[in-house]
Amino acid sequence: MTGRGGQRTAVGGTMRAVVTRRPGSAAGLEVREVPVPVPASDEVLVRVHATSVTRGDVVLRKMPGLVIRAFGERPKKVLGHDFAGVVVAVGDEALGFAPGSRVMGTTSGTAHGAHAELLAVPAEGMIVEIPGEASFAEAAPVPVGAMTALHLLSEAGVGKGQRVLVNGASGSVGSYAVQIAKARGARVTAVCSGRNADLVRGLGAEEVVDYTTADVTALGRRFDIVLDAVGTLRKRAARALLADGGAYATTRSRRDETLAELMEVRDLLASGALHAVVDRVYDLEDVPAAHARVEGGHKRGNVLVRVRAEDEVGLA
Ligand SMILES: NC(=O)c1ccc[n+]([C@@H]2O[C@H](COP(=O)([O-])OP(=O)(O)OC[C@H]3O[C@@H](n4cnc5c(N)ncnc54)[C@H](OP(=O)(O)O)[C@@H]3O)[C@@H](O)[C@H]2O)c1
Repeated sequence: MTGRGGQRTAVGGTMRAVVTRRPGSAAGLEVREVPVPVPASDEVLVRVHATSVTRGDVVLRKMPGLVIRAFGERPKKVLGHDFAGVVVAVGDEALGFAPGSRVMGTTSGTAHGAHAELLAVPAEGMIVEIPGEASFAEAAPVPVGAMTALHLLSEAGVGKGQRVLVNGASGSVGSYAVQIAKARGARVTAVCSGRNADLVRGLGAEEVVDYTTADVTALGRRFDIVLDAVGTLRKRAARALLADGGAYATTRSRRDETLAELMEVRDLLASGALHAVVDRVYDLEDVPAAHARVEGGHKRGNVLVRVRAEDEVGLA
């Protein structure tokens, strides 16, 4: 294992991590000292500066271990997908990263979670360099939500001049979807509550429909793509909104992430076409409260978790 300066490094000791003491409720999560993960020879060890709590983390927290295994995954003691941080050690066969590299990615499919001070991920897994001057706080909440939005819009064939309706445009996937559709030259109609209208206009939506006062399915207009980014607009109901040959996409569908998608969202971040909307910032100790916020279903964009000091994360 190679550390900063090229010296051989022994990995060990303990770190703070949010562990699942009791599966189920957010109150069953607590910060504990646990052993630092020992990276395999093809893995890198990352010091996490910032992470996020996603809806997926909440789902996994509540899911019985048997069900997680039925999906081909291992239940994790430490949850958390998105991460941004610095590589501190590199396995002997891990290529592409050096100690000191600023990185972002997801822990999907790995044994370790991101709600911790350190994590080990395969160097050929879901990890890329953070572009340019982007801070850890700007990078951390991007991967999972933006890849989901990118995947769904790409599958639906988003392109120039198309009319795209994004339902749940003020959430994580929705806020990224508005920006990506706009970057692809589409014309976006955003569905959210009135209090978030200015937010989604600022992200690039041309028109806003307030779902608390209007029936979205009765708009009397047709779209090339209807993206249900929050899981409340079923395919049957969306038919009334689809143009001939139009495509429907929903976050309710299951999928696997790809490195190509992570690279594409990294490039969108680098170009300035995409940025993370941050709802609230929590300390690692307050992850149970962050879970409760996400579970409430009304966050704006993303819930960020600060693992290092504010100035190191890019929040100061
Ligand atoms: N986030 C991810 O990284 C990710 C990745 C893969 C899949 N998913 C799945 O995608 C879905 C959405 O996740 P998310 O994190 O993007 O959602 P989210 O951020 O929790 O969505 C919350 C937002 O949705 C709006 N909203 C709530 N009910 C609505 C409705 N009936 N119509 C329109 N807008 C509504 C809320 O606005 P108001 O407060 O104004 O109501 C709020 O801003 C979840 O099912 C999740 O499991 C998420």
